[in-house]
Amino acid sequence: MKIMAFNGSPRNKWNTATLLEKALEGAASQGADTELIHLYDLDFKGCISCFACKIKEGESYGRCAVQDDLTAVFSKIEKADAIILGSPIYFGCVSGEMRSFMERLLFPYLRYTDPPQSLFPNRIETGFIYTMNVTEDQMKEWGYLQLFNHHEMILKIIFGESEYMCSFDTYQFDDYSKVLATRFDPVKKKQRHEEVFPLDCQKAFDMGMRLVGGK
Ligand SMILES: Cc1cc2nc3c(=O)[nH]c(=O)nc-3n(C[C@H](O)[C@H](O)[C@H](O)COP(=O)(O)O)c2cc1C
Repeated sequence: MKIMAFNGSPRNKWNTATLLEKALEGAASQGADTELIHLYDLDFKGCISCFACKIKEGESYGRCAVQDDLTAVFSKIEKADAIILGSPIYFGCVSGEMRSFMERLLFPYLRYTDPPQSLFPNRIETGFIYTMNVTEDQMKEWGYLQLFNHHEMILKIIFGESEYMCSFDTYQFDDYSKVLATRFDPVKKKQRHEEVFPLDCQKAFDMGMRLVGGK
């Protein structure tokens, strides 16, 4: 089994990356090969709407025609048994890099039929890990569930079974005293990081296990 994870945070060692690492550890505990890719280390842009992936009998039908750092990544994904996307929430959405990655990954495999169908060669499991500053109640109040459910629906169409998890009220800075952030109580933030974030890490580990067929 091979599982790949994609970090949509510019920070390679913070909340999102840590949870993705835990998920991969969970998958590795079931014997899977793992790979973590930090999207901000790659050179790519979002979909350029060339539609080469949609031209009937075209040489790039069902594949992204743009050649850049994602080209090799997409080939690897076609050989993976599961993938996990991870992103911080930026202004109520995923990060710009994750958004661009999703456009490039998903659009070529989307058959413009009614109902939509998938051109991805296999059925594989996917997971999504979201990290954010807001609490669970605020997440619901601010309508983020619509985004998560929409992503889940698209991932199910393209790849197969999909699940997601959220890490709320994350620890955002290593020293709250240095930044202007009166909205947050640094003591409560630290306490949550020490008490709740480890539970989120366990949830991510369990997700990684499940995605490669573990219980
Ligand atoms: C540009 C920017 C925009 C953000 N917007 C939101 C937001 O709309 N809602 C939210 O809950 N958190 C927001 N956050 C906080 C991050 O989502 C949160 O700290 C996340 O856990 C960071 O992930 P990381 O530690 O992996 O980098 C924002 C952070 C940044 C830098």
